[in-house]
Amino acid sequence: MDAIHIRGGNALFGETKIQGSKNAVLPVMAAALLIEDVCIIENCPRILDVHHMQQLLESIGCRVSRTDRTLTIDTRNLSEDTMSGENVTGMRSSITLLGAMLGRMGEVTMAYPGGCVIGERPIDLHLNALRRMGVSIYEKEGFFTARVKELEGTVIRLPISSVGATENIILAAVKAKGVTVLQNAAKEPEIVTLCEFLREAGAVIEGIGGSVLIVQGGHKLHGIRFRIPADRIVAGTYLMSVLGAGGHIFLEDAPVAQMRSMLKAAEEMGAEIHVSREGLNVIADESRKAIPYLKTEVYPGFPTDMQSPLMAALSTARGVSVIEEAIFENRFRIVEQLKKMGACIEILGKRQARIEGVDSLLGCQVTAEELRGGAALVIAGCMALGETVIQNRHFIERGYEDICRDYRNLGVNIYTG
Ligand code: EPZ
Repeated sequence: MDAIHIRGGNALFGETKIQGSKNAVLPVMAAALLIEDVCIIENCPRILDVHHMQQLLESIGCRVSRTDRTLTIDTRNLSEDTMSGENVTGMRSSITLLGAMLGRMGEVTMAYPGGCVIGERPIDLHLNALRRMGVSIYEKEGFFTARVKELEGTVIRLPISSVGATENIILAAVKAKGVTVLQNAAKEPEIVTLCEFLREAGAVIEGIGGSVLIVQGGHKLHGIRFRIPADRIVAGTYLMSVLGAGGHIFLEDAPVAQMRSMLKAAEEMGAEIHVSREGLNVIADESRKAIPYLKTEVYPGFPTDMQSPLMAALSTARGVSVIEEAIFENRFRIVEQLKKMGACIEILGKRQARIEGVDSLLGCQVTAEELRGGAALVIAGCMALGETVIQNRHFIERGYEDICRDYRNLGVNIYTG
């Protein structure tokens, strides 16, 4: 069965180690294509999206091997320039290979990346930026071919600080002739990790962490050994769990410096937070307070990926909370599932949800439709009295290495079935 079973209603106690970051490792794997050498990537999470990215790299001739959480990627002999099939359409981050393939081979044909239920997930910003760098795009029946003789550095201003578009522009700019200035770049920690990886490999990038990046193209890159930082969204998921269920947990390796907006929300709910170099200590009791208003924003604002997990935690907080989802147009799909468990949530217009705290949630059968909504249902299952069965576990396995192992570490009665 593709399900997770949870017997909830108890506070969380225990500690668990936070895995490497999914949204950091995927663009770093793509960036390895720009380095005709061997790269060793440490602390790589064992998740489906990494497996899919590995298959894509192998499909174009890379040699990828893995021992536990260390990936070795050898990109010295590439063969194919067409990527298609389930791996590309089934995974959003395959689009990050676009910039890397153009930087390495000057051509790539790929299927439009699969979107998901949270939104239409267009790639117009990616394609418009690459056109400005001299790339020609030919579209045909759900596929497109991107081709360029030589990428040209230029000035690009993104209308939206798109994470994926920023990544693709950086990957193309590293191999472009001349300098690329990217304005209104995304500032997410995953962008910083990508830039640090490339800089250690020999790229020249200024303004890392800011909204204006300056990339000097054409520098020869060499293989490196690189460690992926811990996953701030996985750590945030477990943080929301103790806010919802109460208890005392320690999250080893939690990247607390990247979690300030989440920690601020936790304190607003009345949690006791202690941060250290080793990780994050959180104590929360039953009397969690509601958050009158919170809006998801680009980094360093409250991350959209934490919106559904927060909604689950707020469903039994004292008082009324309002959440505004400002990044994706359809990220309240989880509301119906939480209402099945007894939550009192009303969607106000397209972008706001009003959550009135109830005494408790009741376990029942619910269905995950995407990654972070699925994680939010696990949180609700920890909070709910009785048994919760979450269908479509595979969505959750795209981003969580072993969510049942982690929650068992935190004292939850949880198993797959
Ligand atoms: C990345 O997606 C993450 N995925 C998402 O995490 C995350 O939610 C998102 O950034 C925002 O932080 C990975 O890193 C693999 P965007 P991405 O481009 O790059 C619109 C998860 O759960 N847009 O910053 O696709 C878009 O529709 C996933 O791990 C355009 O209009 O996000 C959205 O409304 C979910 N045109 C907004 O921008 C474009 O060409 C932000 O999207 C590109 C994006």
